Amino acid sequence: MTSMLRVFCALILCTIGLTAPLSSTAASKDFTRQVEELLARMTLEEKIGQLNLVSHGPKFPGMDFIRQGRAGAVINFNNPQDIAAAQKAARESRLGIPLLFSLDVLHGFRTVYPVPLGETATFNPALSRLASEWAAREAAYIGVQWTFAPMADISRDPRWGRIVEGSGEDPYVGRVFAAARVEGFRAGGLAAGPKHFAGYGMVVGGRDYDATDVPITTLRDIVLPPFRAAIDAGSISLMSAFNALNGLPATANRWLLTDILRGEWKFDGFVVSDWAAIEELLGHGLAADGAEAARQAFLAGVDMDLMGRLYEQHLADEVKAGRVRLARIDESVRRVLRAKFRLGLFDRPDADPSRSDAVFPTPEARQVSLTVARETLVLLQNRDGVLPLRAPMRSIALVGGMATSQWDLLGPHAARGHAEDTVTILDNLKRRTTAANVELSYTPGCDPGCDTADGFAAAVETARSADAIVAVLGEPRDLSGEAASRAYPGLPGRQRELLEALVATGKPVIVVLLAGRPLELGPVADKLAAILMAWYPGTEGGAAITETLFGDVNPSGKLPLTWPRTVGQIPIYYNYLPSGRPTEAGQRFTRNYLDESLEPLFPFGWGLGYATFSFSDPVVAAPRLKGTDTLEVRVEVRNTGDCAGKEVAQLYVRDPVASRSRPVRELKAFEKVALAPGEARTLALRVPVRELGFHLEDGTYVVEPGRFEVGVGGSSLADLKASFEVTEGLRIPPHAGPNARANERTRQPRSTR
Ligand code: BGC
Repeated sequence: MTSMLRVFCALILCTIGLTAPLSSTAASKDFTRQVEELLARMTLEEKIGQLNLVSHGPKFPGMDFIRQGRAGAVINFNNPQDIAAAQKAARESRLGIPLLFSLDVLHGFRTVYPVPLGETATFNPALSRLASEWAAREAAYIGVQWTFAPMADISRDPRWGRIVEGSGEDPYVGRVFAAARVEGFRAGGLAAGPKHFAGYGMVVGGRDYDATDVPITTLRDIVLPPFRAAIDAGSISLMSAFNALNGLPATANRWLLTDILRGEWKFDGFVVSDWAAIEELLGHGLAADGAEAARQAFLAGVDMDLMGRLYEQHLADEVKAGRVRLARIDESVRRVLRAKFRLGLFDRPDADPSRSDAVFPTPEARQVSLTVARETLVLLQNRDGVLPLRAPMRSIALVGGMATSQWDLLGPHAARGHAEDTVTILDNLKRRTTAANVELSYTPGCDPGCDTADGFAAAVETARSADAIVAVLGEPRDLSGEAASRAYPGLPGRQRELLEALVATGKPVIVVLLAGRPLELGPVADKLAAILMAWYPGTEGGAAITETLFGDVNPSGKLPLTWPRTVGQIPIYYNYLPSGRPTEAGQRFTRNYLDESLEPLFPFGWGLGYATFSFSDPVVAAPRLKGTDTLEVRVEVRNTGDCAGKEVAQLYVRDPVASRSRPVRELKAFEKVALAPGEARTLALRVPVRELGFHLEDGTYVVEPGRFEVGVGGSSLADLKASFEVTEGLRIPPHAGPNARANERTRQPRSTR
């Protein structure tokens, strides 16, 4: 397509808004009359059909199946022709109930935005909202209606490959970004279905699909809040997780899916299982056969079966045998139908088969992708101000197979992203160095996986004659995402050796890392002049990296997780509990390793820029507060550097004496601020006192009276410098029973509810 035509298409698409965003009135209406009228006309088989989600592809049961009303939703239909054909078949079914079209749209559709973990590093939720909105616009344009996103799982373990899909380790950041994404998706025309409920991010050993053991208080304080935020922001569904949670698979966990979700949170959307997860209850050893698995999942609260096909096979018999009540089936069908009415599926025109995702990426979408990518990059280290690249530096040696990879820039879970839509780092650098009259040489050294050292000598030879070396290394995209747990989450293959050889030239080595997690860098980290974490930056990633290296853009990303020195430190996170024997150097019987520091390589919230910033001592506006008040902390942030830049002011709070041990610090607010050189701004960071509490084992939430400490700074190293007092606390009882009791109830598989 010519560029003129592209611009024209983009304008048209913008004018028509691509798709009608959901109105918030429809999103909250319950459509009781319409739902009940329809329900009254449905046979049991048609009802169960609404609870069945099947996939496009080799296992697709065919259009007649849809025409018979045997599926309520589908996944992986990602072109408008197939979508239109399937919807036509659904409209031809006896009751003409439209299908719901789902897809994993996480960080883009055809235009790809930075991976969610990178997006979180912006500490700018408005950008994440924007990226989600644009991703949704493209997917909705071709007829997709529902995304299995955001992934709201908190993770403290970078061995887990799916850490890339979420917001990292902090529950407050997780909440803010989960909500921003849900809102963005909705604004762009996609209903959100957060996942994986719950505990999936804390699988033992970081092994995908393994079990999770999380104390109930940690679950409530750390793991659940982002899900709650996603629901409050207007999600239509929730996906249950693959893992067993404290011995009971999430997919059959009535405490989670009913007591918490319905009893406490009053969620009126529906729960969908993860892929074949109901069938996997057999593997978990929870069910002896398909019928039992279906019954357990259903009675626990899973409304829709994603590719297990067990509801379809067994639920009718379970009802006929009296093991599942019809009223319970009706309740699940109601939830699904209500969602369909809320999304306007009964009135909306179907997908237009003449549409194509080839109209993307539009220049506007590319621009959004670039804007977001610029703020995701985290400058971890910058010795002697080696970056930005500038005179008298006249020549650069570019090394690393990833520098020419289009595919890897997109990252895992890239929906319909096309590698050829991206421009490589090499090509971007060529353009920029030519403009700056800087000489650029490129010798890969090895391919992205770096299995052999055959090319090292040539790379070192070229590097020797350059003023600086830029090495683009990291994890090829297949090493990140689902089913990509790594026991050695370091530089893959022989990349570290290559780096050592480059360092040995004595030239400053600037490493650009493409990866979906913090990588163990080993001793070479200390010898690097600069480290720029670029995550997987998306369609415009090559441009964002180049601009940042040259200082056209000042990096402002911050780490949404703690970067370990070595895998042996994992799990490592900033909001740990204090010890009775706090770390003391040289004191054996304190919280220590014998063979490694306890400090991470880079702390949570860390990230440098080309400007420097100072923070005044924080001032607490009102030092005596009640549980219903809002804490306000004022702090002046000043740009003490010589270029404009952005800093993230981070507010940490500690409750030093409480009825349970409380973390050494917890992030409670942040604000990103743009400042010109010499400019200062006073920020007022606010936290409702209600958010300073924690859960007791029985689920009661308390904010206890007493003195709290606060600290503000540009990372989690922020010293705790001011304090305030909560004079009257809060105590909010849970609405449902504790885990053990509820689990006991779910473990009576043969009873009905
Ligand atoms: C993943 C989910 C995803 C689903 C559908 C599963 O394997 O765990 O995150 O939404 O597949 O693609």
